[in-house]
Amino acid sequence: MEWIGLNQLRTAFFDFFKNKGHMLLGSYPLVPKNDNSLLLINSGMAPMKNWFLGKETPPSRRIVTCQKCIRTPDIDLVGQTARHGTFFEMLGNFSFGDYFKHEATKWAWEFVTCVLKMPQNKLYVTVYENDDETYNIWKNDIGISEDHISRLGKEDNFWEIGSGPCGPCSEIYFDRGEKFGCGRKNCGPGCECDRFVEFWNLVFSQFDNDGNGTYTRMKNPNIDTGMGLERLACIIQGVDNLFEVDTIREILAHVCEIAEVRYGESLKNDVSIRIITGI
Ligand code: SER
Repeated sequence: MEWIGLNQLRTAFFDFFKNKGHMLLGSYPLVPKNDNSLLLINSGMAPMKNWFLGKETPPSRRIVTCQKCIRTPDIDLVGQTARHGTFFEMLGNFSFGDYFKHEATKWAWEFVTCVLKMPQNKLYVTVYENDDETYNIWKNDIGISEDHISRLGKEDNFWEIGSGPCGPCSEIYFDRGEKFGCGRKNCGPGCECDRFVEFWNLVFSQFDNDGNGTYTRMKNPNIDTGMGLERLACIIQGVDNLFEVDTIREILAHVCEIAEVRYGESLKNDVSIRIITGI
C-alpha cells in the first residue's frame, strides 16, 4: 500500500466514481437548509434527503461528493482515541433509484483493493444480522472468505440519524494490527478499540423513519455510502491517529505554535493538543 496524501485521496475517489457515471457536486454548507431535524450537517446524505424520498428530482441518479460534516455524539472521545473528531470530510457515492447492492459493494471493493491497493487480508466486512443477500454478495460475487465477514446488529449495521432515509448497511474495516488492539479474545470488527477501524459505510437506504420509530418503505431503494476521509488517510499513511494525517498535522503544528507546546512529549498535553485540533 503506497502513501497517498489526503487531497490526492479525495481526487482519486472523485475520478473513480466519475468514471462510473457519477456527477460530481461540491460540499453543501454545514448549516442545513429547510431541515429542522438537524442543527449541523452530519453526513453526505443529509443535504440530499428530498432526493432520496423522491420529493425533489436530483440532477443525476448517480452523484459523488465530499461533504464537510460535524458530528458531536462522540465529542468526549475526541483526542483520546485514534479515530474520533468532530469536523471531518465524508466521501460518498449515491444512487437515487439507480444501482443498488451489487454495484455498491463491487465498486467499493474495486476502489479499496485496485485503486488504493489495500491488502485484502487486512480487510473485513460486516452486514446487518439478517441481510443474507449482502452476505452472499461479499462471499460469492466478491470472493471474501467467511472468516472476514461478520453479522452485526442494529447498533452497528442499521444506519439512521434522527428522522429521514435509513436502512441496513454493510461496513468495511481495516485491521491495523495487534499493537492497536485491546487484546481481548473477541476483538474484531465492531470492537471499541483502535485495531479494526471502520472506514466505509455502505447504506442500503430503503426506509423513511418519521423520527418516532415508524419506518415506511421508500418508493425506490437507494445507495448512500460514507467514507471518512481523515480515517482513510490515517490508514493509507500508516500514522497512529487522524491528527497525524498530512493535512491535519499542519493544523496541529499551528496549535502547538500558538500554545507554545511540543507534541509528543507528554500524553496529557498530546490529548489537549488533539482536542483543540479536532474540535
Ligand atoms: N449515511 C451514512 C453515514 O453517514 C453513509 O453515508 O455513515
